[in-house]
Amino acid sequence: MSKPAHASGAFAIGGELRVHRLGFGAMRLPGAWREPHSNGAGELLREAIRLGVDLIDTAHAYGHSEELIAEALHPYPDELVIATKGGLRSGGHPDGRPERLRADCESSLRRLRLDTISLWQLHRIDPEIPLEEQFGAIRGLRDEGKIRFVGVSEVSVDELRRARQLVEIATVQNRFNLADRAAADVLRVCEADGLGFLPWAPIARGLGNTCTLASVATTHEATQAQIALAWLLRRSPVVLPIPGTGSPEHLRENVDAALIELSEDDLATLEHDTHGQR
Ligand SMILES: NC(=O)c1ccc[n+]([C@@H]2O[C@H](COP(=O)([O-])OP(=O)(O)OC[C@H]3O[C@@H](n4cnc5c(N)ncnc54)[C@H](OP(=O)(O)O)[C@@H]3O)[C@@H](O)[C@H]2O)c1
Repeated sequence: MSKPAHASGAFAIGGELRVHRLGFGAMRLPGAWREPHSNGAGELLREAIRLGVDLIDTAHAYGHSEELIAEALHPYPDELVIATKGGLRSGGHPDGRPERLRADCESSLRRLRLDTISLWQLHRIDPEIPLEEQFGAIRGLRDEGKIRFVGVSEVSVDELRRARQLVEIATVQNRFNLADRAAADVLRVCEADGLGFLPWAPIARGLGNTCTLASVATTHEATQAQIALAWLLRRSPVVLPIPGTGSPEHLRENVDAALIELSEDDLATLEHDTHGQR
């Protein structure tokens, strides 16, 4: 039976891991930052799966998010891809020392109750540690079978190029939304080379209530958040949005955005009138 998230189409991460493009970001799961057990989180995650979501993004740095995912969904459905990240300490400080990257990866494996992480992303490149050391450590984890595919987060075109000389990179996760298209150059590289692009903050907080967005939303009897997601899905076939929410209503709304078909006119209006300043 077709589920709403399936309307977003499919993408094969690394050419092999097939997911539907509209995913779920697990940073804001209820209780993630405080409670090791949260029924709210479990219900939300199970509902995401029922709606057809098969890509969940989390991180070692997101409090109890990884444990909550395992509690709610383990043993996992065969088709589910859990993408996690490592290399970021509390306060948002990168820590790319090889021993820390290994410790984060091994801790994520335990928390998620996995033998292999399907997609492990370097949360931030650490400017204090040579790239060879950071990606050498990640390559080692992959060669040991602890990681299947490698991703990076918040990278420039040049950083992505240099990282790809050290290890195969399957995905990039950069901030990107209607109001902030600073990563458009990185997206172009991903599109040209078939890398997945996971835009974070996809709902474009700070976009405000622009008249344009509101009028396109009215035309489609949709919310502005849904139009922001529908725009991302139209923007490129390699885009895999991971909207985050703690609300079951917003979750349903976000997944239903996959059903919205924006017209060329809608796109032209959105592209022109909401063009980001960054
Ligand atoms: N790589 C990185 O450095 C990085 C950084 C940040 C996040 N991320 C990843 O990206 C995911 C998404 O990022 P994000 O949570 O910052 O941004 P987001 O998904 O664009 O926005 C989430 C915010 O929008 C609200 N929201 C969600 N759905 C809504 C809807 N339908 N209508 C109105 N409001 C809605 C949420 O509140 P409610 O809970 O009330 O719905 C929350 O405040 C995270 O879960 C995480 O996996 C990655």
